[in-house]
Order: sequence, then structure tokens, then C-alpha cells
Amino acid sequence: MSNQEYVRLGIDFGGSGIKGALIDTRTGELTTERHRIQTPEPSTTFAVAQTIKHIAEHFNYQGRIGLAMPAPVQAGIVQKAANIDKSWIGTDVPALLKEATGCETTVINDADAAGLAEMRFGHGKDLRGVGLMVTVGSGLGTALFTNGVLLPNTELGHLHYKNKIAEKWASDATRKKEDLSWKKWAKRFGKYLHHLEKLFYPELIIIGGGASKKFEKYESYLHKVKTRVLPAYLQNHAGIIGAAVEAIEIQQETAPAEDPEHDPA
Ligand code: BGC
Repeated sequence: MSNQEYVRLGIDFGGSGIKGALIDTRTGELTTERHRIQTPEPSTTFAVAQTIKHIAEHFNYQGRIGLAMPAPVQAGIVQKAANIDKSWIGTDVPALLKEATGCETTVINDADAAGLAEMRFGHGKDLRGVGLMVTVGSGLGTALFTNGVLLPNTELGHLHYKNKIAEKWASDATRKKEDLSWKKWAKRFGKYLHHLEKLFYPELIIIGGGASKKFEKYESYLHKVKTRVLPAYLQNHAGIIGAAVEAIEIQQETAPAEDPEHDPA
């Protein structure tokens, strides 16, 4: 394979921005600047597919896209829409994007994508035992790993905690909406992490999403949490990188079906 054959377009569909970059999937490095377009309001399937088309065109890209989706996804089909337009529920994302962009797409939950990137290239590299990624943004996303292997779609941001859905109580969107100080918000977030550590006993918790860049503002208020907590090494790029990695790996797994030249005999 030439260097170019390891490069995939990773796209992260977030609450405020849809971001894409070309990624060298062997190293996790961005080979281009990140291109960001504001998430359309409402974030319907049609509007977002058009945005993704613009991103693919921006990079003049025709290969397989890796998309990190802020929702649980089973075999390419969106299962729930907590923070995105309801038109996504039941959508076959690869089919939608094939029509919009002409490209094949691999779709993965956004927290799973970010966690995958951290396990490969970030703080989770060489981690043995259980690793937990928690992304903090419009919602709370989670990804659970054991010895680097992902259990997809864990959705622990939707756990009920103190009679509320956890992400409605401790997300970054809630911090902004309720105008909470970092200290007040971090007390909530710390309790949530403590609840998770009592359920899963992780060796390491990695914080992703926009809040990974602000870690020093709340780190000292997380003292209730016994597990080591680190901000994502790849910061807010983790989702894009993980989506691109997933795209190349799925492509390699399905190579016989996609490559008519390939003879398994
Ligand atoms: C969604 C998750 C997603 C998280 C972060 C939640 O509302 O249900 O699938 O990972 O937000 O975007």
C-alpha cells in the first residue's frame, strides 16, 4: 500500500460543528487542516448529508468516509436521536451518504470513535484491563474497552442518576444552560464518574469532547473519583481520527466483497 492508501477522511458530527480532516490511519496524524462547518439547525438527515458532501468536496475526496455519529448505531442504522433531529432515527447512514457524496461510509458512535483513537494513539495505548472514555459536549458519550477492544454503543450518558438522565444533569450543554461555575459543574460530573467507576472499575478514565481542552479548570474538583482521570491526548480531534481508523479497518475486513479482483480460493 502506498502512503495515500492509508489516508481516510474522518468526519465528526457534533452538536455545534461538523468537522473533517484527512487522517493517516497508521499514525493518527491529520494530513490536512481540519475543515469545520456549523451544524445545520435543525440537524435533519438532508441538511447534514449536504454538509458532509461539502466537506468531502472540500478535500476532493472519493474514498471511504469514516463518520462519528452522536447516536448509537447498529449496522449503519441510527437507533436513537437524543441531541439531533428525530429524522435520524432508523436512517441507513451509509445509504444516505452514498447518495449525497457518491462515497462509501463507515459509521460509528462518536464516543466509540474518540475512544478508539485514544486506545490506538493516545493515553489508552498499551492499557490492560478496562478503559472508559467519557466525552463531554451537547451530551455525555461513553465508550468502554477491555484490553483495547471496544464494547460498542454503551450509552452510559443515559443512565438515570439522581432521578435525572445523567447527560441532562452533567453535560457541558447543561453547564452552559444553567450557567454553572466550573466548580459546581465538576461536582456533578465527579459524582457521575464515581458512579461509573463503582459499576465498571476501570483502570483509566479519559475525558474527551470540548471539555478535554478545559481540564485544568475542573481537574481539582474531581477528588471523589478514585480512578486515574486524564484529558484526551488527541483532544477534540479524537472523534475524527477514530472514525477514519474505523473506516480503514472495516474496509480491510470487507476487502473480498468490495474487491472483485480478490480471489479467496
Ligand atoms: C447520545 C450518544 C452520544 C453522546 C455524545 C448522547 O446523547 O445518545 O450516542 O455518544 O450523546 O454525543
